[in-house]
Amino acid sequence: MITFEHIRKQFPDGTVAVDDLDLELPSGKITVFVGPSGCGKTTSLRMINRMVEPTSGRILVDGEDVLEKDPAVLRRGIGYVIQHAGLFPHRTVVDNVATVPHLLGRSKKERRAAAMELLERVGLPTAFADRYPSQLSGGQQQRVGVARALAADPPVMLMDEPFSAVDPVVRDQLQQEFLRLQSELGKTIALVTHDIDEAVKLGDTIAVFRAGGHLAQVGTPQELLERPADDFVRDFVGRDRGFRGLSFESAASLPVRPLGEVGGARLVLDDSGRPVCWEGPGVRGGSAPVEGTFTAHDSLRLVTDLALSSPVATAVRVDGAGRADGLVPHHDLVDHLAARRAPA
Ligand SMILES: Nc1ncnc2c1ncn2[C@@H]1O[C@H](COP(=O)(O)OP(=O)(O)OP(=O)(O)O)[C@@H](O)[C@H]1O
Ligand SMILES: [Mg+2]
Repeated sequence: MITFEHIRKQFPDGTVAVDDLDLELPSGKITVFVGPSGCGKTTSLRMINRMVEPTSGRILVDGEDVLEKDPAVLRRGIGYVIQHAGLFPHRTVVDNVATVPHLLGRSKKERRAAAMELLERVGLPTAFADRYPSQLSGGQQQRVGVARALAADPPVMLMDEPFSAVDPVVRDQLQQEFLRLQSELGKTIALVTHDIDEAVKLGDTIAVFRAGGHLAQVGTPQELLERPADDFVRDFVGRDRGFRGLSFESAASLPVRPLGEVGGARLVLDDSGRPVCWEGPGVRGGSAPVEGTFTAHDSLRLVTDLALSSPVATAVRVDGAGRADGLVPHHDLVDHLAARRAPA
């Protein structure tokens, strides 16, 4: 666990970047620092590994005051990943990963083997190992940065906007891979972003900062979306928070209709009962494939998306074996969404 106790940082020019920050980052979880530009996210992150020294207050990592530790020793247990990866341009990919102090005591062969394994772990083909960073795409460089940070197998990782310099498709991939990796590794992670969508996707806990290094709210993604503490958080979390909040609600209680006609179209199944397409005069062109289905374990966000993108405005539910077992026309969905907010 990482604990901020009354942390304040005032730079020599008088700027107060962080003011009286009290925060706990649970072990083995991802805590996201989110907030507008200049609100003290990076400064807070960098105080954990003493790249910035606090003006007052204490930071404890697993109960130990970081200010009482040798910075070099401290940083060995803390991986650090920044935007644009921060790779050494004149070293090959494999050397970038192999040159972390932790590996330096080993033979050249061992170091290379360890580096190769890490590259694979972060999803980078080892064919890239002998290239230079400039010969890699932004997303690939970012992966090398993560591999390098993991090389010392540190229990704690600090990540400052690690996915923000890449296009949305690559970002999505990197985020997915990062979550998969974290589910195996269970590191204590502090991750900075100013993208609330990224925060909601990655954070077990989200700390929302506001200008002047003040904490506006700390909570799970669901708590923030459903109960923003004030107007600042409400605005920051955004206007489509109602839609985002559907990610946390289960489709289990959604009423479904038996398979049958909807709006002049019927659902065509294959031999084993799996949905194939919609057919009938109600479908433009007479027929259109069923492009997605949901089960009772999915979220209302998925069901809403399916209903909105369906050629007949109807989401199809399937059982565990993929056989169609119910329909949700969009008007039923809207009624359900409205009713769940109404007083009993
Ligand atoms: N070395 C410094 N000297 C003086 N002021 C600084 C210094 N470093 C940061 N600041 C100021 O401290 C405040 C917080 O900066 P910080 O980098 O922590 O913000 P941030 O939340 O990470 O912003 P961004 O989203 O733009 O990265 C800003 O007003 C910044 O200008
Ligand atoms: Mg920053």
